[in-house]
Amino acid sequence: MFDTMTFTKITAGLCGSLLIFLLGQWAAKELYHVGTHGGEQSYSIDTGVEETETAEAEEEVPFEEVLAAASVDDGARVFRQCSACHKLEAGANAVGPYLHGVVGRDIGAAEGYASYSGALSEAADVWTPENLNAFLEAPRQWAPGTSMAYNGLRDVEDRANLIAYLDSVDN
Ligand code: HEC
Repeated sequence: MFDTMTFTKITAGLCGSLLIFLLGQWAAKELYHVGTHGGEQSYSIDTGVEETETAEAEEEVPFEEVLAAASVDDGARVFRQCSACHKLEAGANAVGPYLHGVVGRDIGAAEGYASYSGALSEAADVWTPENLNAFLEAPRQWAPGTSMAYNGLRDVEDRANLIAYLDSVDN
């Protein structure tokens, strides 16, 4: 039979379990119910998204202005990324067509280069600085189907410097 002490112990045990259960439930809610605190985040992880937004805002500057301030020397440094596939001397075709005089040149017109995909001349007619800028930012987006296996130059200043450099090679 129960004596009072046993009964008290059982009750205390049940109450304790219940309390722990309630506490656990409360803690779990606090931890996992994100977004119920008045909609405001209690902490933020810096993903660098804001910086990207600023970078995009900078691109609002008209490209001619960025180009006007471009550095040929810095462009020569950027060109190293292209030199695996492109040469600058007229007629020197490699994996890609030679880039001598490419600024202002007709698209797909490098003499003797037989491997054009046709995607570039479908996208535009002449390599104006603006077309080069758009192409080099995202080659496969600007000219879907291009055989130029290059991901693109994200930085508008890098592109402007590079285009100024390409333009300087043939004066
Ligand atoms: C992996 C090799 C490779 C790299 C790296 C590369 N290209 Fe190309 N490029 C090509 C190929 C191949 C083509 C021909 C594409 C086509 O016909 O679709 C091409 C085409 C071009 C054209 C068009 C030329 C014309 O005669 O119409 C330009 C301009 C150009 N590349 C510039 C660059 C620049 C600037 C870089 C560096 C930022 C670069 N490429 C990096 C392979 C490359």
